[in-house]
Amino acid sequence: MTAAVEPHPIRPAARLNGRLRLPSDKSITHRALLANALADGTAEVRLNRPGLDVWSTIGCLRGLGAQLQVLDGEPMVAQIRGGEWRTPDEPLDCGNSGTTMRLLAGALVGQPLFAILVGDASLSQRPMERVAAPLRAMGAQVDTDDGHAPLRISGRTPLTALEHQLPVPSAQLLGAIACAALSANGMTVIHSPAAVRDHTERLLAWMGAEIARDGLTTTVRGPTRLTARSLEVPGDASSAAAWLVAGALHPDAELRLEGVCLNPTRLASVDVLRAMGARIELHEVATDGPEPVGEITVRGGGRLHAIQLGADDVPGLIDELPLLAVAMAAADGTSELRGAAELRIKESDRIAAVVAGLAAIGANVEELPDGWRVRRGEPRDAAISTHGDHRVAIAFALAAATGVAASVHLDDADCVAVSYPGFFEDLAALTRMDR
Ligand code: S3P
Repeated sequence: MTAAVEPHPIRPAARLNGRLRLPSDKSITHRALLANALADGTAEVRLNRPGLDVWSTIGCLRGLGAQLQVLDGEPMVAQIRGGEWRTPDEPLDCGNSGTTMRLLAGALVGQPLFAILVGDASLSQRPMERVAAPLRAMGAQVDTDDGHAPLRISGRTPLTALEHQLPVPSAQLLGAIACAALSANGMTVIHSPAAVRDHTERLLAWMGAEIARDGLTTTVRGPTRLTARSLEVPGDASSAAAWLVAGALHPDAELRLEGVCLNPTRLASVDVLRAMGARIELHEVATDGPEPVGEITVRGGGRLHAIQLGADDVPGLIDELPLLAVAMAAADGTSELRGAAELRIKESDRIAAVVAGLAAIGANVEELPDGWRVRRGEPRDAAISTHGDHRVAIAFALAAATGVAASVHLDDADCVAVSYPGFFEDLAALTRMDR
């Protein structure tokens, strides 16, 4: 057991050096657990330090009667026997996890059962009609509370295949409809307005489904059964981005991240940081899983230049934008983010939270309806309101560790565990390790 690390206040580290193995990718983990719980056969999903969102998915699957056992260890092993789901005795609690609620809704509509999906206060405010509408059009009954959770779902088999244009580029919506399409008669066609992460397509194809992406269109032929398959879920690309920003900003940093998911749909932040002047190298290693995996190295000590990001950039960076805001606040010149209104309906209003945080740490920042404009300022001691949002907490903790803030006190440091249990222990270890 690692000793708890007192994270408050967080101050600039003299150095950031060392190697890390990150928590398993959250997006892939939700999908791997869910798909194996639906599949024929048994599988082991090996996970490093799963976050609270992943535990929400595990709890929901158990509520549905899935045979899912967890063996502690590093990695932790989730043993799953796929099969029929049953009407749960109680509402399924998705906690803070939008991906759990939306993907599970898609997987449930093709099952002959009734389920209620609930979430915490943040998740209960997030839009659910965008997922409920297409699932209804496939033949299921999906009731919302004025477009929000709780979702009341009466599934049915078979569903009807659907051609659907996503109203926003969202991998959660795409994934939900694709899961439903496994139980639908015929070819489901999903058009996205922009490219989103393709973990659903990769995983379901690897487990035997007839699913493919061509440009901005995903097709799924149903009905089909999945074959259970074991995998180790690689490190989270969004958690890796946190250290890439920290490494790039710190004057004396060399960080090596091992076993990271190198899916190109998740690495746009690497391109952005390189365009700003960061020194980042990727090395892919061989794997037999559905995702490319490898090592990422970042070296600090350079200057970063301002960057302009627009609507086309946003889907590939959606979870990394709070981190990139901190990079913008350290760069030479004025940076801007536009076309990111979706950030207002994440775990918190991330535009408001980031802008308030940047102002508190001393950056010159202007809030825009769909983004922000940022210029470097004089680093200050700051008290940061995280709004319970893990991405906001991690971004501002690293603003302090890299000296973009003089020091940071987070009102809720524990929320990092939603995606990154052990984040502060990793930060402490990197400030101590020798090259
Ligand atoms: C996710 C998709 C994204 C992302 C979330 C995980 C997924 O959400 O922000 O953290 O696993 O599909 P949207 O689909 O709402 O963009």
